[in-house]
Amino acid sequence: MIVRSDRFIDLETPAEFLNSWITPVPHFFVRNHMHEPSTLDADTWQLSVRGEVGRPLTLSLAELHNFESHSVTNTLECAGNGRAFQQPHVPGIQWQKGAVGTAKFSGPRLRDVLQSAGVKPTGRHVIFRGLDEVPGRVPPFIRSVPVEKAMEEDTLIATQMNGLPLTRHHGFPARALVPGWIGAASCKWLTEISVAEKEFDGNFMRPGYRYPNHPLKPGDPLNVDDSHVLDSLNVKSIITSPGDESNVQSRLIHIRGAAWAGEAEVVKVEVSTDCGATWQPAQLGRERARYAWRLWRYSWKVPKSGAYSVWSRATDSKGRTQPETPEWNPSGYLYNAIDQVKVNVQAS
Ligand code: MTE
Repeated sequence: MIVRSDRFIDLETPAEFLNSWITPVPHFFVRNHMHEPSTLDADTWQLSVRGEVGRPLTLSLAELHNFESHSVTNTLECAGNGRAFQQPHVPGIQWQKGAVGTAKFSGPRLRDVLQSAGVKPTGRHVIFRGLDEVPGRVPPFIRSVPVEKAMEEDTLIATQMNGLPLTRHHGFPARALVPGWIGAASCKWLTEISVAEKEFDGNFMRPGYRYPNHPLKPGDPLNVDDSHVLDSLNVKSIITSPGDESNVQSRLIHIRGAAWAGEAEVVKVEVSTDCGATWQPAQLGRERARYAWRLWRYSWKVPKSGAYSVWSRATDSKGRTQPETPEWNPSGYLYNAIDQVKVNVQAS
């Protein structure tokens, strides 16, 4: 893993590892805004459900497990993934391609827990609070999602990842899983769910994780009052093999990658080996799930030895296509430019 920060643990997956439909947990990126909780005890952990509900609840892990478990294979991507490529440069963790991964998350549906607490008609937003240890003046990690998304059948209080209990890095013993949405929506080390009339407006909702309502000129600041909270992910593909700046000795190169589109569906991935002059369709992998990426491959017959730039671009069911130059924004969120790797080919 690439250590992007060791103050709080931020680990990026090298792109070459992202070539399996399910990302093994040890290779799954980690994004922490502050210290992980130092004590997490499954026997004493509790989840409280309160706010605009008729019957506030306090659940132990065993009580949470009494709810029916549901599994969702979801591609989780940090909103800041790709920020390192933004031009001009933007501050923040300098993620390249690997703040993304796909896992099978399992646990009770959030809606079953909310229905057992009885959400009042006044309850419009569901606020998650994590057990992170907050250093100094950093505000706690609290975010909300609209009640409609919270009540969807695939929104979970996940206790498992790839069939095993969550690890500490990924939110043990329970985290929210808000499928198709930016990773920040899926609060780890969940301790409190609070139903509210209004969207939460703390630091990680405002000014954090917001996107301008209208395109900005590079360098312009965000006008918070003319912006919205990020939700679903963008359409995006990455090339996982060959690696950038690699040397390949072959006339036939198998180009591989992954493509995802948040709540939408990837409908095609295309590859160009002539800097976008012509595009060829890649073959999409058979494994699929509503919120999961599609793996793809393209077998490229190299005409002659030389230095090439290989590009990939995905298009989704909403008609969105990866642009050559993405919209700039001051935090570099939702970066989704056409992916490129440089390859030196000896086609002998
Ligand atoms: N939840 C808590 N409590 N604290 C955090 O810092 N980071 C969020 C989200 N949930 C975070 C959190 C962000 S920005 C992302 S991208 C995902 O967790 C990353 O999940 P992972 O570390 O399991 O990959």
